[in-house]
Amino acid sequence: MQPIAFVNGTFMPLAEARVPIEDRGYQFADGVYEVVVARGGKCFCLDEHLERLRHSLTGIELPLDLAPLRLPELIDEGIRRCGYPDVMVYLQITRGMASRDHVFPKAADPTLVMTFKALPKYDPALRARGVALMTQRDIRWAKCDIKSISLLPAVLMKNRAKQAGYYDTVILAEDDTVREASAANIFIITGGAVKTPPRSEKILHGITRNYLVAHAADWGVPCEEVDFKLKDLLAADEAFITSSTMNVMPVTSIDGQAIGDGQVGPVTRRLAAGLDAAG
Ligand code: PDD
Repeated sequence: MQPIAFVNGTFMPLAEARVPIEDRGYQFADGVYEVVVARGGKCFCLDEHLERLRHSLTGIELPLDLAPLRLPELIDEGIRRCGYPDVMVYLQITRGMASRDHVFPKAADPTLVMTFKALPKYDPALRARGVALMTQRDIRWAKCDIKSISLLPAVLMKNRAKQAGYYDTVILAEDDTVREASAANIFIITGGAVKTPPRSEKILHGITRNYLVAHAADWGVPCEEVDFKLKDLLAADEAFITSSTMNVMPVTSIDGQAIGDGQVGPVTRRLAAGLDAAG
């Protein structure tokens, strides 16, 4: 078992993978990405990830027909080659190599990079106990539905939260509308009903989020996509964040203030179990 990379058509050990410094991904963060999780060799919601990738490519005006790339086959091959039972697949497409110029190159030759690594394991104690988040104003750009590799604002916000002793951050609009976490979507539970911010350009349309929205009712929990404010989050009975690598991570406090009774709640547990069982 070893981490594997795929660079423009060739599989190789991760340590050997290289991209030229004039790649626009390196110079302008001119690219988009996906993180897909495969447990027991099977990708979770791969079609949905590829659909979001198409949306992101359109969003950055990088016309690329994904069909001839045969991404599902390549991803399966990478998963097999790395040999890990549970794999985190990182896929990135940039506008490729060009002499540094803000203007798009006339004929872009996109760079496709993938890495296949062991899926990071979350400490079960963390999930049992829940995590503490810190609020911060949104300093990101206006198109957060595009999964851009330009992640510096999220990197700064996450690090600020870590340095202050928190697990992650809750990103807030100027009027205290709750957006998401640095790399995860957010949900609250109030009176037995689940709420998460609606799809818009203000948040990433998380695949895990979308799956929960579609299936919460199957697990006996009504779910509503609706904006809510920080005060609603603080007054909620339960809260949690979601991403492909974490699934559900319970949130038990915000800025040091307990959510509900400060324990991981029953609805969060039910949804986490439903999602874990789904893949
Ligand atoms: N991030 N919101 C943001 C801003 C994210 O970066 C992510 C994922 C999510 C959750 O999306 P999904 O359920 O599709 O993983 C929400 C990935 C995991 C990352 O950057 O590593």
